[in-house]
Amino acid sequence: MSSKKDKKKRKSDAKPAETAHMPSREFSTKARIPSMKAYRKLYKESIDSPSKFWAREAGELSWQKKWKKVLDWKAPDAKWFVGGKLNVCENCVDRHADGPRANKAAIIWEGEPGDKQVITYAQLKREVSRVANVLEKKGVKSGDRVLIYMPMIPEAAYAMLACARIGAVHNVVFGGFASDAIVDRLEDSGATTVITADGGWRRGKVVALKPVVDEALKKYKKVERVIVAKRTGNDVTMKKDRDSWLHDDLKDVSALHSPKGFDSEHPLFLLYTSGSTGKPKGILHTSGGYLTGTYTTCKYIFDMRDEDVYWCTADIGWITGHSYIIYGPLANGATQVMYEGAPNFPDFSRFWQICEDHGVTIFYTAPTAIRAFIKAGDDLVKKHDLSKLRLLGSVGEPINPEAWNWYHKVIGGGRCPIVDTWWQTETGAIMISPMPGATPCKPGTATLPFFGVDAAILDEQGKECKANEDGRLVIRKPWPSMIRSIYGDKKRFKKTYWMDYKGMYTAGDGARRDRDGNFWIIGRLDDVLNVSGHRLGTAEIESALVAHPAVAEAAVIGRPHELKGQAVACFVILKGKHRESEQLRQELRNHVGKIIGAIAKPDDLHFAPGLPKTRSGKIMRRLLKELVNTGKVTGNVTTLEDPTIIAKLAKIIAK
Ligand code: WT7
Repeated sequence: MSSKKDKKKRKSDAKPAETAHMPSREFSTKARIPSMKAYRKLYKESIDSPSKFWAREAGELSWQKKWKKVLDWKAPDAKWFVGGKLNVCENCVDRHADGPRANKAAIIWEGEPGDKQVITYAQLKREVSRVANVLEKKGVKSGDRVLIYMPMIPEAAYAMLACARIGAVHNVVFGGFASDAIVDRLEDSGATTVITADGGWRRGKVVALKPVVDEALKKYKKVERVIVAKRTGNDVTMKKDRDSWLHDDLKDVSALHSPKGFDSEHPLFLLYTSGSTGKPKGILHTSGGYLTGTYTTCKYIFDMRDEDVYWCTADIGWITGHSYIIYGPLANGATQVMYEGAPNFPDFSRFWQICEDHGVTIFYTAPTAIRAFIKAGDDLVKKHDLSKLRLLGSVGEPINPEAWNWYHKVIGGGRCPIVDTWWQTETGAIMISPMPGATPCKPGTATLPFFGVDAAILDEQGKECKANEDGRLVIRKPWPSMIRSIYGDKKRFKKTYWMDYKGMYTAGDGARRDRDGNFWIIGRLDDVLNVSGHRLGTAEIESALVAHPAVAEAAVIGRPHELKGQAVACFVILKGKHRESEQLRQELRNHVGKIIGAIAKPDDLHFAPGLPKTRSGKIMRRLLKELVNTGKVTGNVTTLEDPTIIAKLAKIIAK
């Protein structure tokens, strides 16, 4: 269980490394931003004259009607490219398909079993148009919410782009989430259409998806149509007049579909993410600003070129998959790899085999994956030709210097800059990151703000922190790809992000800046865990636990974990007649998996006689955290309702 080794390792990582890595002259000369001077000049313009900067960037996209005004800002409400009309899908697909990129590969797809497909921009246009025609024929209209629950197959990209094309609002739900998570999202979004697949491949096995949707639709009755892509061939039941096979639907539609222009602020998608309450928030993103943000960040931060082969290993169920698989790279006309399965199937060399086979030049992954590769051993990397790689990226959590250095040396051969990109579901696009051809990089820092991003670190009183002083990360000015609201809950939107400091966005992360201005992200300040780069609310896991008939009360906290970054530790008080047992422990872990999804399964589950509570009944999670992380609690505990509980819990943890 809780291992001493984990703690030791993380501690030694906490020391900021002093040496800054510089991009090679060769890389810099070719890069769009070749020097710090160039970065500073453009950054200054983007902050002093944001309208000028963003109008130029947005002007590189295709608009059916030009905007009248770049920004309308009345905190916290932003309207970007006011009065403009565009079709997001047209920008990602038709713009390239109808020009010299027609026969360029848009997606080089690889299934886990090894099947492959190369989809050119011209093909992508036809496929997406056909799916758009299917949706329209079935009565899906602009503004309707469509829930997408799919594996990483080309049809998932078609489904998202087809929604965008007809103005429907997609809500992608990660394929690892359980049926209750689907129910919550259907209820909150009011979706009437579901696009799914029979299943997907993961670690050599079929992960069934359609049966999970069926389970959810027993509880939520308002879905009128379920469209099912055939991938794995597992048995599924199809409900008459509601369910249809995508391949059947496609037979009757044309490959021509003309993309209508939508208002720049037309909703593009909802993506649910965890917060500090039990109920996930539907983050709302809109069209023109979001596309401009993802397009621009890809262009400068990944320095994407026509000759690049880009690969982002995220799943489309997360914001990284939305912004840096679908919208950003395709808006840039990039060629990218899309992979269905697990990094360790058949073994941990799979990613490097894919990089070698397709000549990947830009590779974007998460620190948790890097740590798993380190553990698997360098031999699995070394037998592959990774010489085409020129740029590496990291996202999802702070990258510990050990992982950074390994990534740089073993994967990047010491020649590839690493962009450590800080951002969030809410920010829509990368906010803090090196410019690969310019920024000196110290392992562990996301370095400097992107163009137009006015990031700062403030203390409780709202004063800017001095160098190396810990504080709260805020964004002081609006940016195009920013969250517009929490779906259906403007009040919660205001309360969560805009109440700490007037007119400023609070990210919920603690951070500090060093003397060179680099941002070092420390981690979440709220009750949100980051497990393998996935965001989980402690309250969500607690509410799953107490939904079990044996559980009276539960408290969930995070503890450092060597591979996952954070692990889920929980304390459970059983109801009267229930007795603790190994079997019940496993049952409760699986129960959380069943309600939320496997990623939320607690790593440690302690049966507890009580919890540290204040006299007013508030659980002191801070004390539990200290106890789990250090084995003891320093400081005064006499204000607790039952001060003896600490010693009892310490004994249980030590077991
Ligand atoms: C939280 C957002 C951004 C897409 C994936 C996660 C943490 C993200 C970094 C980074 C340090 C990072 C933050 C943030 N985070 N990237 N490069 N360095 N921390 O999106 O699920 O919305 O989670 O992930 O704590 O608030 P998300």
